[in-house]
Amino acid sequence: MFRDVSACNTYNYGDALYWDARYVQEAHCGSFDWYQRYSALRPFVRKYIPTSSRVLMVGCGNALMSEDMVKDGYEDIMNIDISSVAIDIMRRKYEQVPQLKYMQMDVKDMSFFPDESFHSVIDKGTLDSLMCGTNAPINAAQMLGEVNRLLKPGGIYMLITYGDPTVRLPYLSRSVYNWKIELYVIPRPGFQRPASSVSSEKSFLEPVFITEKGTLPADYVLEDPDSHFIYICKKPDESTDVSIDSPHPLSQ
Ligand SMILES: C[S@@+](CC[C@H](N)C(=O)[O-])C[C@H]1O[C@@H](n2cnc3c(N)ncnc32)[C@H](O)[C@@H]1O
Repeated sequence: MFRDVSACNTYNYGDALYWDARYVQEAHCGSFDWYQRYSALRPFVRKYIPTSSRVLMVGCGNALMSEDMVKDGYEDIMNIDISSVAIDIMRRKYEQVPQLKYMQMDVKDMSFFPDESFHSVIDKGTLDSLMCGTNAPINAAQMLGEVNRLLKPGGIYMLITYGDPTVRLPYLSRSVYNWKIELYVIPRPGFQRPASSVSSEKSFLEPVFITEKGTLPADYVLEDPDSHFIYICKKPDESTDVSIDSPHPLSQ
């Protein structure tokens, strides 16, 4: 379930050829979900993403995540991946499931889709892959620019990553997006709290405060050092968001 990508220099996770070769090699192994399965992510997905909304799964790989979401009531999930091998496998596997669609596509150029096509974009490990490749900052900015373009106003980009706020917020909190960001921290699957843990009352379902410096609070205890971070990035919706800086003009 969990693969350590902190050693990402070893591989070129940003390279389509790397992923094609890997999916060919693992074709007989069935599916694999990086980091977390849907069952662990469900509380967050159900809280922020309506089942009737149009969802884009970027870098779907051969994960079960989208299938599990459909079993849980999601009606329309477009899955893209740079690997044509992964997409061919998944398209064949789910040809009888109308809620799931698959297209080979580079997340840095999703011009196939018009602006504001999706209510939500889910990313489990794909920004991470780009961050491990060459030209990481440029590629990440291109990807996130595309994600922002495709989101409807009020839409959600849900990023599931091993990257803590110090390494992910510089990319997510750019003023051009103006996303409102919430953070959750969950342990990797199978993590056992030490019996001596003082924070056994902590709920992983509570958002974690992000300091003005874009870090975890100084007193925050990361119980599992290999925790995963879930960033909920909400695109502003000018028609409903109330802004203190620019109130509606008073009628005269
Ligand atoms: C770490 S795997 C995660 C797969 C899946 N989301 C999961 O949770 O198991 C990263 C995925 O991103 C895909 N990927 C890498 N670069 C991409 C790009 N530029 N555009 C689209 N997909 C990309 C890879 O082919 C791979 O399937």
